[in-house]
Amino acid sequence: MDWKDLLKRRESCRVYRDQPVPRTVLDELVKEALQSPSGCNAQPWRFLIVDDPQAKKRLVEALDDDGLTGCPWGDTVPAFIVISELKATLKPKVAERYDSQKFAQMDIGMAAMTICYAAADMGLGSCMIGTFHEKKLREALGIPDEAKPRLIITLGYDGVGHPPRAKIRRTFAEACGHNHW
Ligand SMILES: Cc1cc2nc3c(=O)[nH]c(=O)nc-3n(C[C@H](O)[C@H](O)[C@H](O)COP(=O)(O)O)c2cc1C
Repeated sequence: MDWKDLLKRRESCRVYRDQPVPRTVLDELVKEALQSPSGCNAQPWRFLIVDDPQAKKRLVEALDDDGLTGCPWGDTVPAFIVISELKATLKPKVAERYDSQKFAQMDIGMAAMTICYAAADMGLGSCMIGTFHEKKLREALGIPDEAKPRLIITLGYDGVGHPPRAKIRRTFAEACGHNHW
């Protein structure tokens, strides 16, 4: 898909068709995410594809963070990708100056963005979910102590089928300066 079309087409999708996403497609999304940039090329991430009904059920229970959930429609989601942060190994001089995890959340955000645009390019809807009960999610998916789950991406075929929504965004003038704040 043309980049400008893809920019319009990618939007948060919260209504999915009851249709599984083939494992090969989910694997391809992660393979494309692995091409994302990261600070010092540290790649401080691990991706967990969750498409098995039992594993999904456990994940969906972890979406309830003591009464707060950003994904009340979790039980309708065909597949999830959970991105966890790993300890980053930075280049020695960078590691001396900065905390090893300084760039890790940015890195994960970029990988997540790659997944969402790649999904849109493949005709899939996606939505990033930033809220979940960390302990329940760890237990649900066997995420070890040395990894920190950061983001969940929901994936599936769009159940609404409308043209892309108009994006509600700050204007260019509000959001961008030139040469001085
Ligand atoms: C880090 C992050 C966390 C998000 N968490 C949630 C969430 O928990 N639930 C949800 O419905 N959308 C979530 N979103 C989606 C945003 O609400 C959405 O990207 C924003 O409103 C812009 O809309 P658009 O994605 O359709 O362009 C999240 C997005 C990001 C980048």
